[in-house]
Amino acid sequence: MPDKKWSESRAPAGRIAYVNGRYLPHGQAGVHIEDRGLQLGDSIYEVTNVLDGVPIDEAAHLDRMERSLGELGIAMPMGRAALKLVMREMIARNRIRNGLLYLQVTRGAARRDHVPPKDGPRPTLIMTMRTQDMAGLASRMEKGIAVVTVPDQRWARCDIKTVQLLPNLMAKQAAKARGGAEAWLVDKDGFVTEGASTNAWIVAQNGDVATRDLSNAILAGVTRRIILEAASEAGVNKVVERKFTVAEALAAREAFISSATGAAVPVVVIDGQKIGDGAPGPLTRRIHKLYACKAGIKS
Ligand SMILES: Cc1ncc(COP(=O)(O)O)c(C=O)c1O
Repeated sequence: MPDKKWSESRAPAGRIAYVNGRYLPHGQAGVHIEDRGLQLGDSIYEVTNVLDGVPIDEAAHLDRMERSLGELGIAMPMGRAALKLVMREMIARNRIRNGLLYLQVTRGAARRDHVPPKDGPRPTLIMTMRTQDMAGLASRMEKGIAVVTVPDQRWARCDIKTVQLLPNLMAKQAAKARGGAEAWLVDKDGFVTEGASTNAWIVAQNGDVATRDLSNAILAGVTRRIILEAASEAGVNKVVERKFTVAEALAAREAFISSATGAAVPVVVIDGQKIGDGAPGPLTRRIHKLYACKAGIKS
């Protein structure tokens, strides 16, 4: 059974957004028509899970947000302490104890031009929140999900968490059309990079618990990192950061995906073929629990 906290849902949907200092109902919230996030996709984002009113892995998400902004030369919209206050205010105003908190920062509003103004406009900060489908997540944990492999058509800086998600959503749409809940993206050499919105893992035939090594080809998932730490601390088999092919994944003992929205979710079918015996694997379940423990999620 999944951890209790992962399967609980208590709160009504929240519809209060934060935009540049104001908390407003979604229908009244908006950005400038020349906001560079809207016009040019000049923007990054973060998603944190909120459980029992607490943002999970908050420091790591804010670290990554700062890194993404730094790579694009966009200033942090406010200091860490202030950001954390706004996050808590969003949780309180939306009355969501268990849900997802989205943070988005754009370079700000400026006359439309590919090259941003020299001193840059003031960055736009947006936050929104929504409840998680906890029953759906519990069912995915229980039954596992199917994934479909599709060519990775993204750019060469997948390490930056930008809002430019067209290739990701096209991959996910293609996966959905073929009965998959997630797409596994495959590079030109036949290696899996990651999922459309998750990191990809296998428990290989030789016992390796493997996920793609960090590079510009993937996003450095916060959940991925914590799983790596928790699994190696607990002495789980051989935990390795390395490439694996689709063929190796199809022959794997177990497979799973990781993300802030669901920790480690079992993958039981890849491209219509069962993985192992077609049921969530024991190591995946153990890793899910190890992650929850390390992230301070009570069971
Ligand atoms: C492409 C991609 N890879 C991996 C992840 C998982 O990252 P995290 O564990 O930080 O949620 C995400 C999450 O949004 C993602 O979009």
